Amino acid sequence: MNDPLVLGIESSCDETAVALVRGDRTILAQRIASQNEAHERFGGVVPELAARAHADRLAPMVETVLAEAGIALADVDAIAGTAGPGLIGGVMVGLVTAKALAFAASKPLIAVNHLEGHALSPRLADAGLQFPYLLLLVSGGHCQLLGVEGVGRYRRLATTIDDAVGEAFDKSAKVLGLGFPGGPALERAARNGSPRFSLPRPLVGSDEPHFSFAGLKSAVLRAHAAIPEPTVQDIADLAASFQQAACDCLVDRTARAIAAFPEATALVVAGGVAANQAIRGSLAELAASHGLPFVAPPMWLCTDNGAMIAWAGLERLRAGDIDDLHAPARPRWPLDPAAEAVRGAGVKA
Ligand code: KG4
Ligand code: ZN
Repeated sequence: MNDPLVLGIESSCDETAVALVRGDRTILAQRIASQNEAHERFGGVVPELAARAHADRLAPMVETVLAEAGIALADVDAIAGTAGPGLIGGVMVGLVTAKALAFAASKPLIAVNHLEGHALSPRLADAGLQFPYLLLLVSGGHCQLLGVEGVGRYRRLATTIDDAVGEAFDKSAKVLGLGFPGGPALERAARNGSPRFSLPRPLVGSDEPHFSFAGLKSAVLRAHAAIPEPTVQDIADLAASFQQAACDCLVDRTARAIAAFPEATALVVAGGVAANQAIRGSLAELAASHGLPFVAPPMWLCTDNGAMIAWAGLERLRAGDIDDLHAPARPRWPLDPAAEAVRGAGVKA
């Protein structure tokens, strides 16, 4: 099975996504439906609404992707579905759909860790990326530095002791009235601003390896509250100040991890926040200053999608690591089970 064909299903947060990917890295067809309109008025993802939307959309989306690719379910080599971590209702919808398809077509099931989908996605985009690499995984629920040693072999070097960086982007955007989803909105606002507000950079320079963003987020709240009638320019300046501080934190902690994982052949960034241009630029500079290649997947592959789940499934299939129909849905599922719990972390999926 040199170039297997894998159907990937993603439903762990607010994107319903399906993709059909072949081992030669061809994406035969894919669909990604975001649920922004359903969650917008609540200013955040409402788990039950998300699960219902996945249940409504997923099966027809699978049908569409197969039809567009001109592939019958019988011709697919495996079905990969996100089995966690994430919002449990959505994870169950996706995993049960994957199980039903695997059972109906007598195909292997691969229960994919969503974080492994992000972690391996750069190898879908870049055939030259080899193990081991240092990965900064930055999303709405996670902020980690991982030594990626191979498929299924992840060494957690650092994690957040409070909020994930994407969460800090989203909450700061909410405070600044920039709408939902917050990360991209804050980045847009920051483009017109200058970082004139002095905001904290938690744990920068610290001996411990981890991240912290709660203090930065609260500082945005306080700085905003201190301006009696904020102008559009004030908001842009606050956004730019937040983004600069977040970049500085990520760069400082990643520099520390480069020293802690000298076997890395590249510095890689993945996850939704990796779509941020300022962060990509700062990390590219950091990698260059250490003589390391820098790899960032295309923007669409950073935020949640089905292709990264299909690809992780493909890598696992090639490694002979498949699951059976008992595979559980796991709201929490660390990539490195041996990593010690840190203060405050692991609260969210
Ligand atoms: O990986 P992802 O799509 O979902 C999770 O697994 O969490 O990441 C979503 C996160 C959200 O917090 C979103 O605001 C953030 O990624 N994000 C961004 C940008 N695009 C998405 N944050 C900063 N700048 C962006 N351009
Ligand atoms: Zn994600």
